[in-house]
Amino acid sequence: MEIAELTKANYLKGEITPPPDKSISHRAIMFASIAEGKSIVKNFLKAEDPISTTNAFRMMGIEIEEKAGNELVIHGKGLYGLKEPFDVIDCGNSGTTVRLISGILSGNPFFSVLTGDDSLKQRPMARVINPLKEMGADISARDADKYLPMAIKGKVLKAINYNMPIASAQVKSCLILAGLYADGTTIITEPQKSRDHTERMLMAMGAEIRTDNRRQTTEDRQNLIEVKSMRDKKLNPIDITVPSDFSSAAFFIAGALIVPDSEISVRNVCINPTRTGLLDVIKNMGGDVRVENMRDVSGEPVADIYCESAGSLKAVKISGDIMPSLIDEFPILCVLATQADGVTEIRGAEELRVKESDRIKAMATELKKLGVELEEYPDGISIKGKASLKGATVESYHDHRIAMSLAIAALVAEGTTTINNAECVDISFPGFFEELKRITG
Ligand code: S3P
Repeated sequence: MEIAELTKANYLKGEITPPPDKSISHRAIMFASIAEGKSIVKNFLKAEDPISTTNAFRMMGIEIEEKAGNELVIHGKGLYGLKEPFDVIDCGNSGTTVRLISGILSGNPFFSVLTGDDSLKQRPMARVINPLKEMGADISARDADKYLPMAIKGKVLKAINYNMPIASAQVKSCLILAGLYADGTTIITEPQKSRDHTERMLMAMGAEIRTDNRRQTTEDRQNLIEVKSMRDKKLNPIDITVPSDFSSAAFFIAGALIVPDSEISVRNVCINPTRTGLLDVIKNMGGDVRVENMRDVSGEPVADIYCESAGSLKAVKISGDIMPSLIDEFPILCVLATQADGVTEIRGAEELRVKESDRIKAMATELKKLGVELEEYPDGISIKGKASLKGATVESYHDHRIAMSLAIAALVAEGTTTINNAECVDISFPGFFEELKRITG
């Protein structure tokens, strides 16, 4: 039980390279494991969540060598080269691990059981179990097939047409992976486009995937993905370099905006447009953020982000359609809203209730403790700014993004803010508090 204590900052200044992208790190391990041959992953994120993924594939017989400088060499054994795990696979806190792996395991001819920590055991799994069952997978899970633990007996899957009820990259990726193992062509649509790292990486590895953003989709569907069977084919290995995670960069960008006299440059950040909705919102709030040195790194757009304190920010209204592109930035956006003039309203965000914690409730409860006036809705929150924050003792709910968002709020609060269970930042950003301290004056 570790606590973090923070006080008001005078400024944030300097250069920072946030940790490698979590979503891309997970996918690199998974896809390299089912490719045939040796893949190299440079700048892998050594944090608790992606380590859950490495452990899972090691349990299924994949050799993963750790080299200097966060480089991994993965000896992939092909789509059908995994071996039955000897024990239950513990996915820890990682929704991405469990949901993506379930798609691979459903097509592999052996028995496996997946579980996770107390948070993951309360998160909905029917969203992957139901369509996987439609594809012919044999899956059982706790509480009428809704929650972990889940047991999978792999089968020959059949392709389906599936309209996802919610935009979710985890569900989409699970079904794309299952589609590789299915007979026929799997077609998936989603109501809004969620992050597309899976499509980009698998296509680069030779998978036959076609995406169609808006065209050929019905009116309420913004994205269609067509996946051809790979049952008689193989995935090629990859050699990739993982860029920095925009979701980790977001804490520093927000900090620089709200702490006066700040000026920071955030280096090497993945600016895939399915991830950077927060930048559009910041622009609407009147914040000064510049994206420069755009380049391509292993098939993902990457840039440096320069950011200065905003003299003033103005409140904005945010609703459903943009949510998938800032899904993980909800907590830090709430913090920004406390420093914007007027009432910021975020709606259509019900998915936030089933993340690592109920992030709507967590932010509403903890920001109130810091003196913010706000109203919580079933699908979002409204926050009255500009608020004068007062330091208090706050809870992380063992949720890394809640802990880091409250740390940024603490930088503009009078007095001392104490964050309980702050060690959870290790899920995605080991060393977060040290990095924050380094650039804070
Ligand atoms: C992720 C997808 C998102 C996101 C999560 C990582 C991924 O979840 O919130 O942190 O890597 O695919 P959903 O797909 O459930 O929205």
